[in-house]
Amino acid sequence: MRRILVTGSSRGLGLEFVKQLLEKGNQIIACNRNPLKYTDLLELKNKFEDKLILIDLDVSSKDSIDNAFTMISKEVDGLDILINNAGIRFGGEKYCDELGKLHKEDFCNIFSVNTVAPVLMVEKFLPLIKNGRNPIIVNISSTSGSIGRRSRKGGGYSYSASKAALNMITKALSVDLEEDTITVISIHPGWVKTSMEYTENAPLTTYESIKGMKRVIEGLSVKDSGKFFDWEGNELPW
Ligand SMILES: NC(=O)c1ccc[n+]([C@@H]2O[C@H](COP(=O)([O-])OP(=O)(O)OC[C@H]3O[C@@H](n4cnc5c(N)ncnc54)[C@H](OP(=O)(O)O)[C@@H]3O)[C@@H](O)[C@H]2O)c1
Repeated sequence: MRRILVTGSSRGLGLEFVKQLLEKGNQIIACNRNPLKYTDLLELKNKFEDKLILIDLDVSSKDSIDNAFTMISKEVDGLDILINNAGIRFGGEKYCDELGKLHKEDFCNIFSVNTVAPVLMVEKFLPLIKNGRNPIIVNISSTSGSIGRRSRKGGGYSYSASKAALNMITKALSVDLEEDTITVISIHPGWVKTSMEYTENAPLTTYESIKGMKRVIEGLSVKDSGKFFDWEGNELPW
């Protein structure tokens, strides 16, 4: 049994992570805004009881991260896996991510959730992560954030840049936490049908993506720290 914290667990990939990891017998700390509002999560809570802890967390708020840490520290004395999954495609203004349409506040909101929050989560939860068994930090990134792969036209400035910056955070954390033998990776879930914008025609289901990412995470060792994978375990260029 591993103790696993998942952010953005109300729907999409986060919810499926929670489901599949619970079914494997793990203890899950599912964090999202207003968890009691989501029937899927409440049904899982009824089924898995103590194995599922629901925590209210808005990752864009430092106070909320601090409060979540206080609550979680009362429940567990270590974290084996932190999955920084919460993410947004737009920060309020829809379809404003192309040259000529950029929107400053939206840009900053995306960075706040996709880039700043994951590193603040690691900073805050580090005492628990250091107490984990073979601890792993998983940052859910995207091929949109791969500078090496960038060739297509069509904007995506804020989202792509937020994930490219997240990838740098993965690399920096992997170096800083090497002595603590904490494995840190970025992973691309594939193009998956969820409630995120531009995924209506995506070929993958959340079930398939999470099944693949779970296999990749289970197979990780410290030598993989600082790498960028896809959901099938292929290494991606930064
Ligand atoms: N789907 C894809 O094809 C795809 C591809 C590449 C990467 N990704 C990445 O995969 C991750 C999950 O995306 P998804 O496709 O599952 O999207 P989704 O269905 O839109 O779910 C996003 C999740 O993030 C949460 N979230 C957003 N802002 C938050 C905040 N401030 N605090 C806490 N939680 C917050 C949402 O919670 P609320 O219900 O509270 O809004 C929701 O649970 C993201 O990092 C995304 O960038 C997805």
